[in-house]
Amino acid sequence: MKKIRKIGILTGGGDCPGLNAVIRAVVHTACRAGIAVVGIRDGYAGLIHKDVRPLALPEVSGILPLGGTILGTSNRDNPFQYAEPGAGGKVEHRDVSAQALKTIEYNEIDVLVTVGGDGTQIIANTFFEKHKLPVVGVPKTIDNDLNGTDVTFGFDTALNVATTAVDKLHSTAEAHHRVMVLEVMGRYAGWIALDAGLAGGGDVILVPEIPYRIEKVCDHIRDRAARGKRFSLVVVAEGAKPEGGQMVVARKVNDASDPIRLGGIAALVANQVEDLTGIESRYTILGHVQRGGSPTPYDRILASRFGYHAVEAAMAGKFGHLVGLRGNEIRTTPIQEAVAVPRRVKAGDDKVLVAKAVGTCFGS
Ligand code: F6P
Repeated sequence: MKKIRKIGILTGGGDCPGLNAVIRAVVHTACRAGIAVVGIRDGYAGLIHKDVRPLALPEVSGILPLGGTILGTSNRDNPFQYAEPGAGGKVEHRDVSAQALKTIEYNEIDVLVTVGGDGTQIIANTFFEKHKLPVVGVPKTIDNDLNGTDVTFGFDTALNVATTAVDKLHSTAEAHHRVMVLEVMGRYAGWIALDAGLAGGGDVILVPEIPYRIEKVCDHIRDRAARGKRFSLVVVAEGAKPEGGQMVVARKVNDASDPIRLGGIAALVANQVEDLTGIESRYTILGHVQRGGSPTPYDRILASRFGYHAVEAAMAGKFGHLVGLRGNEIRTTPIQEAVAVPRRVKAGDDKVLVAKAVGTCFGS
């Protein structure tokens, strides 16, 4: 096996707390093994535009507790379908992967470590399969919807933010005898809503995987009122939808891999609840607050473990694999297998059953 002399690392897709902890662990681990590291800026955009810089110990000093990513990130620059302005102002997609590979060659990168969610890993795997590029994936997303790992770093931080929000809404809901609807992130997977709802004692949890009926939600809120509970807390994932209905789309853009911007389900639910029950209702959209700021200790540790093991996997020649947590051990899984199906909430999941057992309604 060819000796590894240089690792390239990029962070792709939406950012999440813990990315810097991964970068730091990769640089430290590689340094000890005599391997140089270069950072590619703004995800795959840096490969396309030759934006690469050396990363040594001084560059990663002090970054462990920082949110965001010192490398920058992007969720629009797929080298296999790169969006460029075409004739008549129309966006055209081109394959610029050869350009990206030239950057790898020019910088003498032996292994590319791709830190990202499913979009980033699908691109990494295409490079691996089509061009035999040695890649090692590190899973990240606050949505926690990647297979190949029990949990992604970033999720715990987002969950803490969301649970704090539920707790804060609890006291004001109770004081004013209102229904408070909290919209959290999660386009196709409702893990943040489910876990924050469970941790914060949400009375209603609405997730994309379990379509709801607003009548059921209102019945539950009325039942609570009849029992003297004159307030209710609803935690709704941005991608939740009513039975037979659609997700609430805030706007569509044409230069991103996922052109849909979600947002607004909380307003819809709050207004419907107020109209149908007569109980005053308010809504809060948590948005990107969930993605920003310093990672929790759990995320710092998990991200550091992933970074260390990504370098170990590279040295062991485990290319085309993703590091992940299984139980309390770090294992690798072929990226292909990890991205084949997303990890979604199931109606029979233990957490759903527990939430129901403690009186939470899923609107179904
Ligand atoms: O994929 C993670 C995620 O947090 C989704 O839950 C959310 O819909 C999306 O990112 C928002 O992305 P952007 O920053 O592009 O608006």
